[in-house]
Amino acid sequence: MKKEKNDKANICIIGAGYVGLVSGACLAEIGHRVVCVDSDPKKIAMLKKGVMPIYEDGLQSVVKKNVKAGRLFFTNAIKDGMHHDGRRAEAIFIAVGTPPRDDGSADLSAIEKVAEEIARNMSDYTVIVEKSTVPVETCEWIYKTVTRHNKKHIPFDVASNPEFLREGTAVRDFLKPDRVVLGCPSRQCEHVMRKIYKAMKGAPLLVTDVKSAELIKHASNSFLSTKISFINAVAQVCEKTGADVEMVAKGMGMDKRIGMSFLKAGIGFGGFCFPKDLEAFYWLSRRKGYNFELLKTVKDINEQAKLWMVKQVQDELWNLEGKTVAMLGLAFKPETDDMRFAPSIDIAAEFKRLGANVRGYDPVSQENAKSVIKNIYFAKDAYDCVAGADCACLITEWAEFGRLNMKKVLAHLKHPILIDGRNLYNPAKMRELGFTYKSVGRH
Ligand SMILES: NC(=O)c1ccc[n+]([C@@H]2O[C@H](COP(=O)([O-])OP(=O)(O)OC[C@H]3O[C@@H](n4cnc5c(N)ncnc54)[C@H](O)[C@@H]3O)[C@@H](O)[C@H]2O)c1
Repeated sequence: MKKEKNDKANICIIGAGYVGLVSGACLAEIGHRVVCVDSDPKKIAMLKKGVMPIYEDGLQSVVKKNVKAGRLFFTNAIKDGMHHDGRRAEAIFIAVGTPPRDDGSADLSAIEKVAEEIARNMSDYTVIVEKSTVPVETCEWIYKTVTRHNKKHIPFDVASNPEFLREGTAVRDFLKPDRVVLGCPSRQCEHVMRKIYKAMKGAPLLVTDVKSAELIKHASNSFLSTKISFINAVAQVCEKTGADVEMVAKGMGMDKRIGMSFLKAGIGFGGFCFPKDLEAFYWLSRRKGYNFELLKTVKDINEQAKLWMVKQVQDELWNLEGKTVAMLGLAFKPETDDMRFAPSIDIAAEFKRLGANVRGYDPVSQENAKSVIKNIYFAKDAYDCVAGADCACLITEWAEFGRLNMKKVLAHLKHPILIDGRNLYNPAKMRELGFTYKSVGRH
């Protein structure tokens, strides 16, 4: 085995998706030698050619730079990732998906499969780092699984290192985190984890026990979802009373105990994290004997927030049978191509159920949208999307929609109706232009 300078680690990351690929590229960027493993051969083939399988600002240049520097590699085989070019990975990060099951619990079967394979390929003390978002006690299950398949009794630890990056700003978030949470079961494990993150200058480390680390992630995402649903509920009261939710949010957020972030009213949260983590946390709490009813209410408010859009369109167009609705934006938020659990999916389905023809356009997620939203017309740009439509609905606040020539939008629409689900436009300006304009919690 080749000897490395001991302030840098050999790392293997299993799962090269939004989290695994960004983590791998960024850990290479701070000097470690990283091998990213993914079971999807297409993904690895693309990465080996320098093509990014996901849209993420700044990712391609970090990947290219570190591949060129000989610090970042890609493979399909876990065994190869753990023992790459004569170097043994001392830390193996698990970053595979943990999708929701029908009952809301997290499907951890990919994690179990990976844990078994890690166990079969360990040759010396190894830290297995759980990075995927998982319910509390998953690390305990990984420990038991690895022990069962670790026939050579190689020493190992299982650490929890939940990831807090956001799609769209993932590279920046990973390299400049608010905090790095490390749940370490032993001193030896803590030493390895501290060494890995030491190179990330200025990152505040919170070293704690494994279960607390696991719970921090679910509690954080559920709290952020709660903040969004709270302001969306406030928006409903604003609509009924004549108050302006943006001013209410500003006034609330100026209180440092509350803060400005996550107080933007709109048509609800989506994506691969908030909806599933909220469900999984609710499910886990119930299983442990605590009925976390608040989380159920947060979810219900979010479902209502999505349907707000459909109700506004009905209020303007009456029956939707045979009418045409244009959806501007399909991704769950701007700056990502991720369509998982995007509100647009439920909103389009409801429009279709009511008999409307749907036209949709997204600057980046259009191709991914085609696999989850069926039987709608996918437009070539925003103007094509609204052409001949009875009404336009702003679903995702992409910057390019803020720069549209609204006179041209108006001219393309059959009726001058604009429903703004993200409060992107100025109500007075839109009305001045001649739109019948509605937004969330504003007048
Ligand atoms: N996407 C986010 O913004 C985000 C942020 C923080 C945490 N998380 C959490 O991180 C985890 C991963 O999320 P993601 O968005 O990166 O998912 P993803 O679907 O983009 O990536 C998962 C990858 O794992 C691969 N994979 C699955 N089984 C495998 C196996 N047996 N061996 C090797 N590779 C395998 C898949 O092919 C896929 O490329 C989830 O638990 C998620 O909740 C996601």
